[in-house]
Amino acid sequence: MSARAFDEHPLQTVDTPGGDLVVAGVSKRYGGVPALSDVSLTIEPGKVHSLIGENGAGKSTLGKIISGVIEPDEGTLTLGGVPLVLRSPREAIAKGIITIAQELAIVPALTVAENVYLGSEVTRGGFVRRRESRRRFRELADHVGFDLSPDVRAGNLSTADQQKVEIMRALSRNASIVVMDEPSAALSSNESAALHEIIRSLARRGSAVVLISHFLSEVLSLSDTITTLRDGHLVRTVDAAGATEDSLIEGMLGRSLSSVFPQKAPVDESAPIVLEVDHLSAPGVTDCSFVLHRGEILGISGLVGAGRSELARAIFRDAKVSHGSVRLGGSNLTGHSPHRSIGRGLVLIPESRKEMGLLMGRSVKENISLSRLDLVSRLGWIAGFRERRAVSKLMEKTTVKAANMALPATMLSGGNQQKLLFARSLMCSPSVLIADEPTRGVDVGSKRAIYDLLVEMAQEGMGIIVISSELEEVLGLAHRTLVMRHGRFTADLRGDEMNEQSVLAAAFAETNAT
Ligand SMILES: Nc1ncnc2c1ncn2[C@@H]1O[C@H](COP(=O)(O)OP(=O)(O)OP(=O)(O)O)[C@@H](O)[C@H]1O
Ligand SMILES: [Mg+2]
Repeated sequence: MSARAFDEHPLQTVDTPGGDLVVAGVSKRYGGVPALSDVSLTIEPGKVHSLIGENGAGKSTLGKIISGVIEPDEGTLTLGGVPLVLRSPREAIAKGIITIAQELAIVPALTVAENVYLGSEVTRGGFVRRRESRRRFRELADHVGFDLSPDVRAGNLSTADQQKVEIMRALSRNASIVVMDEPSAALSSNESAALHEIIRSLARRGSAVVLISHFLSEVLSLSDTITTLRDGHLVRTVDAAGATEDSLIEGMLGRSLSSVFPQKAPVDESAPIVLEVDHLSAPGVTDCSFVLHRGEILGISGLVGAGRSELARAIFRDAKVSHGSVRLGGSNLTGHSPHRSIGRGLVLIPESRKEMGLLMGRSVKENISLSRLDLVSRLGWIAGFRERRAVSKLMEKTTVKAANMALPATMLSGGNQQKLLFARSLMCSPSVLIADEPTRGVDVGSKRAIYDLLVEMAQEGMGIIVISSELEEVLGLAHRTLVMRHGRFTADLRGDEMNEQSVLAAAFAETNAT
C-alpha cells in the first residue's frame, strides 16, 4: 500500500479536530487493587504516542479510559480544553475517539463487511445498502493492502484476519484519536508493515494515535512520544528520538536485561525419540515427517498461513488427519482425541487464548488445574491443598501476575492470560509440549522467564516444539528449525545453517521457484 493512496482515501478525513487530549491525575482500582494510579499525560494531534510497560502495568486500562470503555475513579480528561466525560465507547466514537481493543470484539455470526460497518451502515430509508457497503469495503481493503473477502463469516477467520477486520472498522470511521491496543500482535511481518504505514498516515493527517505494543522496535520506529507505565504508575514520558531499546526496558522493568534469550544447552542427538511424525496429511498440511528427541527444542517457522498451526493441531489430534501417523513415546496416537493426547503426555498451547484455551469466567486456579481436575476431585481436599500449592508454584514460574488465584481469568491483563495457558500445560507434566506463539502479547521480562522455563524443561527431558512468527524467537531458542510453506516442509536447518536468511529463503521457497 502506498502512503499517498491512503492519504487520498475518501473515507478517511478528520472532521472532528479535537486539539490536545489531556489526561490529568487519573486513577482506577479494581476491587480495591489499583490498576492505574494518578496518571497524567497529554496526547497531541498528529503524533504517535506509545504506551509501554510490563503485563498488568495498566496500559489497556488507560486505553479503555481514553476510549470510554471504563470510567476512572479519580482524575479528569479534557479535549481541546473542554471537559470530556465518556460514559460509553459510543460516546467516545461520537467525539472521534476510536479504539482497536486487545481482546478482539468482532461479531462472529456477521460477515467481514458487516463487522467493518457495524453501527455505521450505509442506509437509505432504513435499509442497509449492501452494494454500497461492499463497494466501500473493497476500496478500503485495497487501500490498506489487506486481502479479506467481505462475505466470509468473521467467526471463521484466523486471529490475524480478525485483527484486520478490527483495524478496518476503526479506519472506516472518522477518527481524531485512534487507540490501538497491541494491533500487530497477531500480524505477519508484511501485514505489520502495512499497519505501520497506516499509523504514519493517520498521524500525517492530523489524528493522534495511542499505540500500545510489546514490540519495542515497532515503538521506537513509529512513536513521537513514549510513556512507560510500571505497576499502574507513570514512570516517565520521553521523546522517542532520545530513547533506545535498553532505556525502554530499564524503564519498564526497573532493571536492565542483558540478553533476551538464555544460553542454548547442547542437545544429545542420540537421546531417545519422544515424537515421530510420519507422512502426516491433514487440512492445510501435506506429507510432513520429522522426529523429536528427548531434550530437543524444535522450532517451526514460516509465514502466517503456511500451515504451522494446522500441523500442531493435526499432531495433537484436534484436526482430522487424512493420512500418516504420529507416534508418541513409541506407540501410535492415530485416531485419538486431544483429551487422549493429554492423557498420553502430549500438550498443545494453542495460538488463540480466547477461543481455544481459557475458560474466561473461571478462576485462575481452575484454568491452570483444568487438565488435572479428574485427579483433584477423586482425591478430595488433600489434593485440593496440593493443587493450590502446585498452582501457585506454576504461577510464580510463569510470572502470572494476579492478585489471587480465585480471580476469574477475565480480570487478568492480556499477557497474563497468555501465561495462564502456559502454566496449565505444565500442570500435567507432559513429555512433549507444542507451544504455538507462546509469547504473544507477553512483555520482554516475562518472555525471558518463559524462555528460561522452556530451556529448563528441555534439560529435564521434555521434547519441545516452538511455533513462532517472531523469527528471532525461533533462532534464539531452537536447536533445529523446520520451515513450512503451503503446508509442506521446505527446509530442515540446524546449527550454523539456522539464520535469518536461510529461514526466509525457505519460507518463500516456492515463490522463487515458480
Ligand atoms: N475487569 C477487571 N477486573 C479486575 N482487575 C482487572 C480488570 N481488568 C484489568 N484488571 C487488573 O488491572 C491491572 C492492569 O491491567 P491492564 O489490562 O491495564 O494491563 P496491561 O498493561 O494492558 O497488560 P498486558 O500487557 O498484559 O496487556 C492488572 O493487574 C489486571 O489484573
Ligand atoms: Mg493490555
